[in-house]
Amino acid sequence: MATTPIGSRLQPVTALGTPLSRSATRVMLLGAGELGKEVIIALQRLGIETIAVDRYDNAPGMQVAHRSHVVSMTDAAALRAVIEQERPHLVVPEIEAIATDLLLEIEREGLAEVIPTARATRLTMDREGIRRLVAEELGMPTSPYAFASSLDELQAAIDAGIGYPCLVKPTMSSSGKGQSLLRGPQDVAKAWDYAMQGGRVSRGRVIVEGFIDFEYEITLLTVRAVGASGAVETHFCEPVGHLQISGDYVESWQPQAMSPAALEKAREIAAAVTTNLGGRGLFGVELFVRGDQVWFSEVSPRPHDTGLVTLASQRFSEFELHARAILGLPVDVSLRAPGASAVIYGGVDATAIAFAGVAEALAVPETDLRLFGKPESFKKRRMGVAVATAATTDEARQRAKLAASRVKPIES
Ligand SMILES: Nc1ncnc2c1ncn2[C@@H]1O[C@H](COP(=O)(O)OP(=O)(O)OP(=O)(O)O)[C@@H](O)[C@H]1O
Ligand SMILES: [Mg+2]
Repeated sequence: MATTPIGSRLQPVTALGTPLSRSATRVMLLGAGELGKEVIIALQRLGIETIAVDRYDNAPGMQVAHRSHVVSMTDAAALRAVIEQERPHLVVPEIEAIATDLLLEIEREGLAEVIPTARATRLTMDREGIRRLVAEELGMPTSPYAFASSLDELQAAIDAGIGYPCLVKPTMSSSGKGQSLLRGPQDVAKAWDYAMQGGRVSRGRVIVEGFIDFEYEITLLTVRAVGASGAVETHFCEPVGHLQISGDYVESWQPQAMSPAALEKAREIAAAVTTNLGGRGLFGVELFVRGDQVWFSEVSPRPHDTGLVTLASQRFSEFELHARAILGLPVDVSLRAPGASAVIYGGVDATAIAFAGVAEALAVPETDLRLFGKPESFKKRRMGVAVATAATTDEARQRAKLAASRVKPIES
């Protein structure tokens, strides 16, 4: 081995290798969707050898990686086998549904460095782990909450103080799956049943959260990267505003205007949470804001879907920032221009779809597209995104939405 570029914890990179050679710096992405694909492209540009892992063939990230493996990432034995075969320096989770116990073992054994840390991936895959850490240990403001393992416990928690309206979510789920808004006692049983169907791992546990009547919500992209002194420093991107429909993001923009007091609180919360989770990399800290009041909602220890806007709005996208940070390189989080993103849904249930209207979409000024290349489309599956810049976020939003609306997925 000519160089040991990374692997010793929190040490800056001394040298990056040549891919597919004895000096290669190898990075394995666990999850190879549209976010992983962009991280892989950013890594490729730095000459990193990339390995994409996902549960289905031809996932977006696999199409741009050096090698790929189809593995169920909740299968610890299968995941260990692929890590032992590939011997990556870094293991980079892109999704939550991973055998996180195995990541703890991999880290403990020193087999690979887990980004940002195995503990962070473990805590954030489970709403209970992260909520208890942030609210009870770090003392940060969150919605009122309780956990329940049965319909009776759920009803009791609501009656004991959570009240209505409230939200019920499976403790292990993402993208709004299994979530419902409860307006009164008549909604409780239905919400429990729905959560039991929507959970990722059927553990039969839910969080019930008091409804926060926020004015707007943001993702504060927060980067832990090695600075000039050799120590890890925390950097904040401009806040990303976004619109969620049924728990899924449909539009985002940057910067979201905030009062100075709210921005300061948002940064305080993000710094406290990400410092506790540790390691290097970019985090998406989701926050609710009303006036000068800020509540923590949840955090992804990895690039965030609403941060797709940064492909247009920042000098370096969240994916490039993540790539740099995990390699121990310095980052620049500066904004390039006000920007926006708008999601392009599949609209049809079909494989091998085609996209009409791309030329018309790209005729919108200052606009760009990402078509993810997913082999199968569903009506509500995110198949692409339009991004735009403009003099203001309002104008950027109009451009991104117009461009997205001109792309027409069609059955081939
Ligand atoms: N306590 C709450 N009060 C008000 N709105 C909420 C609350 N919790 C969630 N929401 C709304 O629902 C959205 C999705 O919630 P949350 O982020 O917890 O779900 P998720 O399944 O993790 O979604 P994703 O994976 O897309 O981030 C939030 O972005 C917010 O718009
Ligand atoms: Mg969320």
